[in-house]
Amino acid sequence: MSHHTVTLIAGDGIGDEVTNACVRAIEATSVKIVWDIQSAGLKAVTDFGVALPGATLDSIKKNGVALKGPTTTPIGTGHKSANVLMRQALDLYACIRPVKSVPGIKTRYDNVDLIIVRENTEGLYSGQEVQITPDVVASLKIVTKKATEKIAHAAFALAEKLGRKRITVVHKANILKMGDGLFLHTAEAVAKDYPEIILDDMIIDALCMKLVTNPCQFDMLLLENLYGDIVSDLCAGLVGGLGVVPGANIGEHAAVFEAVHGSAPDIAGQNKANPTAMMKSAAMMLEHLGETKAAYQLSKAIDTVLLRGQVRTADLGGSATTQQFTDAVISAIIDTKT
Ligand code: NAI
Ligand code: MG
Repeated sequence: MSHHTVTLIAGDGIGDEVTNACVRAIEATSVKIVWDIQSAGLKAVTDFGVALPGATLDSIKKNGVALKGPTTTPIGTGHKSANVLMRQALDLYACIRPVKSVPGIKTRYDNVDLIIVRENTEGLYSGQEVQITPDVVASLKIVTKKATEKIAHAAFALAEKLGRKRITVVHKANILKMGDGLFLHTAEAVAKDYPEIILDDMIIDALCMKLVTNPCQFDMLLLENLYGDIVSDLCAGLVGGLGVVPGANIGEHAAVFEAVHGSAPDIAGQNKANPTAMMKSAAMMLEHLGETKAAYQLSKAIDTVLLRGQVRTADLGGSATTQQFTDAVISAIIDTKT
């Protein structure tokens, strides 16, 4: 039987628990994956002295696909984020995060169904900060026409593929007239190549208000890096929290699949983490690998278990452990096969 080789990075905190859930669940789908195990994040700093070892990058370049757990980044000091480094080094310019209401999980809204498309390589994450005086720091927000064109084309191409009708480009071009202005106007120029898809725009603060009062009106959001990061967590909160929203970082030569959430140190090692977000990211990865049937089986099995409602992790009001939830998903996969 043919197989895929995929780089696996467990990461830090709950990373081991949630990536292990993915490995087990994929095994149950009967897709054969050979995992090339690599390191990144705080664990890599401890073991190898760097947050993103060259061997990890080489492995992703060679395999073209990785499944990645969350990695810890110290606040205000210490090593640079392995995520930012990885996205820049591999030019994983398109961060795609589908945010969809989960049947059976009660939230304020039942039919949120939007896709976040986040520019993943520049903006305020350019890493260029300068100390001007001991009391003054400037953090450079870099916006280039080239990277904005790439992310805008990625958004429109995805809209075409999925039959989505409208993209809202999000900005603060009233204040950041040049940087966010370039982002907005570049997206508007790219939109001319896709006349069947509507492009409108919204200022980031107004968007946040509209997202919490009426999120169902949005189809796709196109955002620069920092806005995309913040709005992703906000949107996760609309559909059940960080435990349920998956994501992908896509470039021309590689794709890294990971959940929106971080390493959750407050619950790490306690068998409490919700593996849904990571398993849904794994389903996106299977789709990317052309394993459409297995992707559907995994995604459907997660939905089935959540809808039944007997086995849920604590973040969703249940008392199941990570392992018990994973076992239930695996049983549901096996049920669909028999
Ligand atoms: P976080 O996303 O790790 O956690 C925020 C809250 O959500 C916590 O209360 C946590 O317990 C909960 N949560 C997150 N994922 C969950 C899951 N799967 N199941 C149940 N509950 C879950 O954000 P935080 O605490 O701000 O960051 C912790 C570390 O993670 C930091 O070092 C940060 O830099 C890193 N981080 C890494 C990311 C990545 O590798 N892609 C993304 C976001 C943060
Ligand atoms: Mg984030």
